[in-house]
Amino acid sequence: MTQALDLFKLDEKVAVVTGGGRGLGYYSAEGMAEAGADIAICGRDIHGKLDDAVKKLKKNGRDCIKIKCDITKEEEVKQMAKTVKDYYGKCDILVNNAGVGDMAPSKTYSLSRWNNTINTNLTGTFLCCREIGKMMIKQKSGNIINFSSENGQVGFSTGFTAYATSKIGIIGLTRSLAVEWGKYNIRVNAILPGNMEVGMMEFLQDKESSMYEMIGPPLLNLTPIKRFGSGDDIKGAIVFLASKASDYISGAKIVLDGGFTINAGL
Ligand SMILES: NC(=O)c1ccc[n+]([C@@H]2O[C@H](COP(=O)([O-])OP(=O)(O)OC[C@H]3O[C@@H](n4cnc5c(N)ncnc54)[C@H](OP(=O)(O)O)[C@@H]3O)[C@@H](O)[C@H]2O)c1
Repeated sequence: MTQALDLFKLDEKVAVVTGGGRGLGYYSAEGMAEAGADIAICGRDIHGKLDDAVKKLKKNGRDCIKIKCDITKEEEVKQMAKTVKDYYGKCDILVNNAGVGDMAPSKTYSLSRWNNTINTNLTGTFLCCREIGKMMIKQKSGNIINFSSENGQVGFSTGFTAYATSKIGIIGLTRSLAVEWGKYNIRVNAILPGNMEVGMMEFLQDKESSMYEMIGPPLLNLTPIKRFGSGDDIKGAIVFLASKASDYISGAKIVLDGGFTINAGL
């Protein structure tokens, strides 16, 4: 029998986080580093945040490397997986966090915007699963956590069609891989964050902003737990899913939304 708190330790584990340089990906990486894992973060690095993130993550006493990788480019994803294998020799945990939130009304949403959203959020996630998955199949063990969203569960009237389609697709991808790769001792789960006040919805922290004024109060009103999600909320859920504490959970949707998506609003 393992002591309960030891179930959450990630010592000796190697975790890859796509889009780990900022937002929810950074908190995912920080949580796993604090729990004992060595980390590789990747992204296109268009904002030059990967170096800073590596420095901060190394303060936990664990190793961390950055890998420049655009997950929509097949060759770059193959190279990313090779770099992880060459440097760490293995990958135990893959967190597919990288994604874009490009919203606009459907009647004017161009094909190029549609393709970019689907290619990044869905096809990019598949490519990372496939390339890191090959390594995990050889290892006969692995753990994949895919970022879906509350938008994979409920509709919004404000132009989320491509995003929602990509995020419900991630649930299908997660369930199929969980069934196909279970025999290799690979678990695959989806996390569905709600309205988090970090990352692409950071504006929810600024009560004076026009974006907050427009959507902050109605979103809070529909959230039974009357607050937005935090970096700590992400850390807790990711460390749980990445660790032995969730060893018998595969193919699941872990909804992290303070009850938002089950609220009928009455
Ligand atoms: N924040 C929320 O409230 C919320 C709610 C539900 C779901 N989510 C999901 O959570 C995940 C993270 O979101 P976030 O809020 O942290 O967003 P964010 O702050 O905008 O960060 C997005 C991350 O994705 C990376 N990325 C984007 N396109 C990429 C590409 N083609 N190749 C590689 N990396 C790419 C970015 O890195 P580079 O720019 O360096 O490439 C960045 O690190 C997303 O999947 C999002 O859909 C967020």
